[in-house]
Amino acid sequence: MKLLEGKTAIITGASRGIGRGIAQVFAKHGANVAFTYSASAEAAKALEDELNAMGIKAKGYQSNAADFNEAQKLVDDVVADFGALDILINNAGITKDNLLMRISEEDFDKVIEVNLKSVFNMTKAVQRTMLKQRHGSIINMSSVVGVKGNAGQTNYAASKAGVIGFTKSVALELGSRNIRCNAIAPGFIQTEMTEKLGADVVKGWTENIPLKRGGSPEDVANACVFLASDMSAYVTGQTLNVDGGMLT
Ligand SMILES: NC(=O)c1ccc[n+]([C@@H]2O[C@H](COP(=O)([O-])OP(=O)(O)OC[C@H]3O[C@@H](n4cnc5c(N)ncnc54)[C@H](OP(=O)(O)O)[C@@H]3O)[C@@H](O)[C@H]2O)c1
Repeated sequence: MKLLEGKTAIITGASRGIGRGIAQVFAKHGANVAFTYSASAEAAKALEDELNAMGIKAKGYQSNAADFNEAQKLVDDVVADFGALDILINNAGITKDNLLMRISEEDFDKVIEVNLKSVFNMTKAVQRTMLKQRHGSIINMSSVVGVKGNAGQTNYAASKAGVIGFTKSVALELGSRNIRCNAIAPGFIQTEMTEKLGADVVKGWTENIPLKRGGSPEDVANACVFLASDMSAYVTGQTLNVDGGMLT
């Protein structure tokens, strides 16, 4: 059985990494996929073609999730193009790591804007459609770093902890309209974001993971399928760690 047959999803930041993995797994489960990217136009076109060849409808949109008006326009365009909107995955995110001593105001603000403000922008933008139809599943990409904190990532940790607070509040506010909102806290997932880390940092992380490996985008995508599908119809306001047991 295809768990997402007939559902339409918006996934932000899907030109690579976890977002791309979610788009591929969602298409496999029968979802129509509208996805965004920031600059990687070629990769986005390749993904759009790959997904359409899987027999679902897919389209990539260049849209800055950190911009309030762009987020609203994106949702209007998706509803016009697809005629439906059941799932929102706020996945777009960046890092600009530095010790508090060295971090600039600009790098703090930028990470908050792209990782946290974007979640507000997109959730505001889908709210009207989801309220009207009286259903929807919103999934926000947090991080184990948002749960636990991490030296050298004050900006990132604050943004991802903010995402968890936002998620719980939306779950409380919109639950009576059958709109669910959950967060996923991935651990160490092998993507371009983590490729920036040195080999010994990666080795240190992996040794401390009970399952003794980094995660794949598909590992995170499978958790998203659960939270997006009717299999999780009675689950809202939760943060699901997808971290190989790292925080256990
Ligand atoms: N990798 C990990 O270990 C890990 C762990 C915990 C949480 N996460 C979270 O998971 C999410 C995905 O991470 P990832 O590792 O897959 O990252 P990634 O490989 O760096 O990919 C980031 C994606 O976000 C897009 N993007 C960046 N800024 C954007 C903006 N302003 N508007 C719209 N799209 C934007 C990028 O588009 P372009 O290609 O066009 O730049 C790209 O598609 C992030 O929220 C991250 O914080 C990752």
